[in-house]
Order: sequence, then C-alpha cells, then structure tokens
Amino acid sequence: MQDELFADVPARAAWLRAELNRHAHAYYVLDNPSIPDAEYDRLFLELSALEQQHPELRSPDSPTQRVGGAPLPQFEAVRHSVPMLSLGNGFDDDDVVAFDRRVREGLRADGEVDYATELKFDGLAINLRYENGILVEAATRGDGATGENVTANIRTIRAIPLRLRMENPPTVLDVRGEVLMFKADFDRLNTRQRDAGQKEFANPRNAAAGSLRQLDSRITSQRALRFYAYGIGVLEGAALPDSHAALLDWFDAIGMPVCKERSIVSGAEGLLAFYRDIGARRAALPYEIDGVVYKVNRLADQQRLGFVSRAPRFAIAHKFPAQEALTLVQDIGVQVGRTGAITPVARLAPVSVGGVTVTNATLHNEDEVRRKDVRIGDTVIVRRAGDVIPEVVAVVPERRPADAREFLMPAVCPVCGSAIIRAEDEAVARCSGGWTKCAAQKKGGLLHFVSRRAMDIEGLGEQLVEQLVDRHVIATAADLYKLGFASLAELERMADKSARNVLNALEKSKSTTLARFIYALGIRHVGEATAKELARHFGRMDSVMDATLEQLLEVADVGPVVAASIQQFFVDPLNRELVEQLRAGGVHWAEHEGIAAAATDADKVGSALQGKTFVLTGTLPNLTRDAAAAMIEAAGGKVAGSVSKKTAYVVAGEEAGSKLVKAAELGIAILDETGLIELLKGIS
Ligand code: IVH
Repeated sequence: MQDELFADVPARAAWLRAELNRHAHAYYVLDNPSIPDAEYDRLFLELSALEQQHPELRSPDSPTQRVGGAPLPQFEAVRHSVPMLSLGNGFDDDDVVAFDRRVREGLRADGEVDYATELKFDGLAINLRYENGILVEAATRGDGATGENVTANIRTIRAIPLRLRMENPPTVLDVRGEVLMFKADFDRLNTRQRDAGQKEFANPRNAAAGSLRQLDSRITSQRALRFYAYGIGVLEGAALPDSHAALLDWFDAIGMPVCKERSIVSGAEGLLAFYRDIGARRAALPYEIDGVVYKVNRLADQQRLGFVSRAPRFAIAHKFPAQEALTLVQDIGVQVGRTGAITPVARLAPVSVGGVTVTNATLHNEDEVRRKDVRIGDTVIVRRAGDVIPEVVAVVPERRPADAREFLMPAVCPVCGSAIIRAEDEAVARCSGGWTKCAAQKKGGLLHFVSRRAMDIEGLGEQLVEQLVDRHVIATAADLYKLGFASLAELERMADKSARNVLNALEKSKSTTLARFIYALGIRHVGEATAKELARHFGRMDSVMDATLEQLLEVADVGPVVAASIQQFFVDPLNRELVEQLRAGGVHWAEHEGIAAAATDADKVGSALQGKTFVLTGTLPNLTRDAAAAMIEAAGGKVAGSVSKKTAYVVAGEEAGSKLVKAAELGIAILDETGLIELLKGIS
C-alpha cells in the first residue's frame, strides 16, 4: 500500500481529494455522514502531508485549501455582473392574495399560477462564481451592485463545493444563496466566546456576518458556517432549466446545498398553506428564518413579469412577525423560582414582539446582568423565540441616559424575607427559606408537580395554585388530593364545571409511573431523564429513598452533585412525609424489582430487550398503558404507536384491533399481560 502510494503520488492525491470532497458533501449537503470524523481527519492529514512534499499537487479544489490563509489588509470590491436585488415584503394574508393577483394579471393567467416556495433564511446573501466547475470568486451582496470579495473566507465553508459535481460544467455559473449559522453552532460559538472572555454574538445572523467579514480567514475557518443556494446570476455554456424548482433540483444534483424545505404550490391558498406549515415548524428548524419566499415557478413567466425598481415582480418574502424589538427597561426586579433561585427580571415598557405584548424579560442571573451591562433606564433589544421566555439580548449603548442605574441583588427574599445566599461556585443566588417558608418556592414546586410532564393535572394553572396557596387552602402537593368540591368552587373565577374538571384530573393523575412521580417531587438536578433512570434502576420508591450515595452513583447519568442532591432531599423528614402522604392519598404506580436488585438476570433481559420496540394495543387486565410502557422502558425497550417490520413484540389486551391483525400478518411475537411480565422478569 505504502509503495503503491508513493509510486503514484499524483493519483493518490487526486483520490484523497475526491474522497474528502465526497465525504464533505455527504456530511454538509446530504446531512448523511459517510465516515467517522476521525477517519476524515486521517485522510485530510495524509493529503496535507502529500501536498507539503509536492506543492505542485495543490489544486484550488483541494479540501486543504479550506483552512484559511494570511489576513487581508481589506476586502476588495467586486462588481456583480447581474445585480443582487432584494425582495418585496408581505406581512399578512391580504398582502399574499394581492401579490398573487398582481402576478395573475401580469401574466394574464386564466387559472392558478404555480409557485416555488422556500424559506427566507436569516443570514447573508452571497454570490459564488464557478468557472469551468471551479469556485473562483465569492462576494457579499453589498449594495446590490458592488460587494466585497470574501473568497478566502467562503472557501473555508465545507458545505460549499470547491468543484461542481458534474461532467461538463458551464463556463460561468453564478450561484446565489445565503450563508448562515445553525442555532446549535451559534450556541457553541457563544459558549466558546464567553469562556475565552470574548464578546458574544447577539444572534446567529450577526455571528454569521461577523465570521464571514473577517479579514483573517483562519478565524472564519473555525466558525461553523453553512450555505443554502436559492438563485442564479450569470450562466454561460449551459442551458437554464425551465423552472425555479428545476433549478434548485439541478443545484442539488451538482453538489450545491439546497434546503429540503421547499415545494411547488398553486395559487394564494397554496402559498398560505406553506406559510402556516413552516410557521408551525419554525422553532424546530436547526436555523433561523424570518419568513418564507414565494417565486413564480416558470422562469419564462419570471422574465415576463420583470422588476419594479430593485425588487422582482415575480417573487415576494412573506415575513413572520419580528421576534426582536427595542424597548425601555423601567426597572429590574427579581423572581423566586421553585428551587429558590433568584432570577433578575427586566420590567419593560410594553412592546409587541412576534405578535405578543412583552412586559418582562429574563436576565438569567447576576453575572448575566453585569456581562450584558443592563441598567435601569437602558434601551434594550428583547427577543421572543417560540415558546421560550422573552430575554434581553443586548443594550443599545448610544441610548443610555446619564441617570441609568445599576441592578443590585437584594439581600433578602422579596417573598418570604429569608436571606439570599449565593454559593461561591454557583452563578445563581438563592432564597434560603426553602419551600416550607417561602410561598414563591411553594407555588413553583406545586406548579412543577402538576405540570404536564410530571403528574399532568390539567386545569390546575398558575392562578389557581396562587389562590390555593395564598388562602392557605393547601400547603403541600399532598393537600391537592384532599381538595373537595366546595373549597375549589368558592375560588375566584371558578365555575362548578371547572371545579369538577380539576377534581377529575386529580383523580386521574393518581395512577402514574414511578418516573413521573420522582420527577414531580422537584428534587434539584433531577430532570425527566434522571427520574426515568432512577425509576429504571431502582424499580421501587423505597429503594430510591433509602439509596446510599454509592448506590445512587451506580445509576446512569448520576454524578456526585446529583447523587448528593437526591440524598439530601430524602434525608429531610418533611420530604419523606410528603411521599407517604401522597401514597396515602391514593397516588400509585407499578413497581418492579429494579435492575440493581436483580442484577444478574434482569441485566441480561435488560440488554436482550435493549432497543427492542413494543407496541401496546387493547386494554390490559391489570396494568395501565403508562405502567406497561414504563416497565418496558425500564427494561431498555421502546414503545411505539404503530406496528411495522421493526416491531419486536405486540402486547395485546382486550379489544385489540387492527394492530393485532397487522402483527399477525407480519409474524410478530404477540404477548398478553402475563407474557409481558414474564418476559420482563426474564422467565420466558
Ligand atoms: S431571492 C431577486 N430567496 O433576502 C430575488 N432571497 O430581500 C433575490 N433571502 O438579500 C433574493 N432567503 O439575503 C431569495 N430563499 C431566498 C432567500 C432570500 C433569504 C434574503 C437574501 C436577500 C434578501 C432579499
């Protein structure tokens, strides 16, 4: 191999280049990695070494050319051969209907017009010039006529091919698209910046812009930038496809990253349906978008429609309501959380963000207030993204008044008057009152207890819990199960029907799982995942309560801090009593041996069932669905909703329907309740 390698160095280098480019394409464009990172690195190092020994082999499409070179004194100006225009904006349904009407009139269309729909990425527009298939120049949009030459930086973006994947490339091709940063990469970058004492970026777009407009491309090479193509400038030496959708498919075929979230729709109805679909999934997308874009699909129609001033008549951006807004910090107060954590909160002059009026925004903790240097009287950028609590992104320093005041952490809890203490190694200050003394902690703990992922008691919201605590109707979670109709119905804004619903929800919640119950207790550092692990490991509540530190440390994911917190919780007689009272009040769950006790056999079953998928159907004689699911998950299995070839077992109870039929057709093992229990015990 070595001999062969050195016998034909140019061939080896060419092979390495092709391999590395292929793997980068699989990773960044297809989202489907083809080799482990370490293997990629090994091939990369081999190619770098070869090129170092034989500099003549270094070609412009070599992946080694992505690492970045010496800093530039400044960016050169690049004149765009075809100007880079902007898009008209639409903000509501009427704007979209009007756009569609203008298009139909412009085309004198009788029926519905077909549109290509795509996302409006929140990044920076870039023009990539390929000559004979090789990337030769990249420029920012600039003012649309002239941009900046950012070729060295663009080369470091692995998603962007240095060579097009095609046999006979066009002599000239300008690909247009957006450079952006994924949300997860943005969070990682900011963590890195913070750890290095560097300034953090306000949002992924600023981070992408800041990274791309670096004169030192070695810095850019360390920033995880992405690219999606959405348009074309000059094309010479190849025929243009006849539609925008076909153009994007062609880009995809020649190795350009194109976003999957695109479609062809008909008429205004189709456009609005796309907008709503993307709107609903926006928060789950890995990158930020500020709307969607509609483009008349047929390129011949686009040409007929032409342009008005600097925007095309054939396309429009349908924007989502802005997620950021400017407003005034009128005061900075504090909020007391269920674990006593004191969170500084900016009290804001009311401002509409993304269609919702925001009056409070979290400042997370004292250090964060100092780092962002937020003062009372400041004008700030607030952001609301999806369901998350609004936060203060940054201060607008130019608007700071002379009398702006700094925030001081209070010495005592504003709710119960106990001392506020901040441990040396913690970012968070806490009220030392505990949930027995501090009503805020009590309310927070109760709201956590009733929340969907804990005991899931529907109808017991913030206002109700507030009233129940303030009127001393309840003091602990166990008191919830002692509530009667009269004590609920006399509360403010509580109709008889709602009171009955709450009582029903409470009754229903009594049948739960061990994992939910542990999670509901609100032990510090015990989230849903840890609660599940504890339930799986110990099987019984008493085993969790009496576990030694050593035993707790055997649980997957439990480290010293979490173990200590669990032990501390159960050492407190008040907490032990709470568990007893809840049990006495009727709260129950299925228990099992636990993998700790039945180590040998259960472990074997655990691993034998690891990753196996179960489907539950019909009503089981003794176990509720949740209890059966919890037992399966505790043994390492998974529970799915529908039967497929991948299903390992179908657990069927009374009145099992089509799932049972399908299981029989596919020849999948069918168990009844006893069969399931035996399997889990490792008997069968
Ligand atoms: S097409 C002639 N498509 O929006 C049409 N632009 O206001 C030119 N943008 O500067 C643009 N996503 O930065 C187009 N799918 C998309 C886009 C998009 C984001 C940005 C782009 C451009 C601005 C136009």
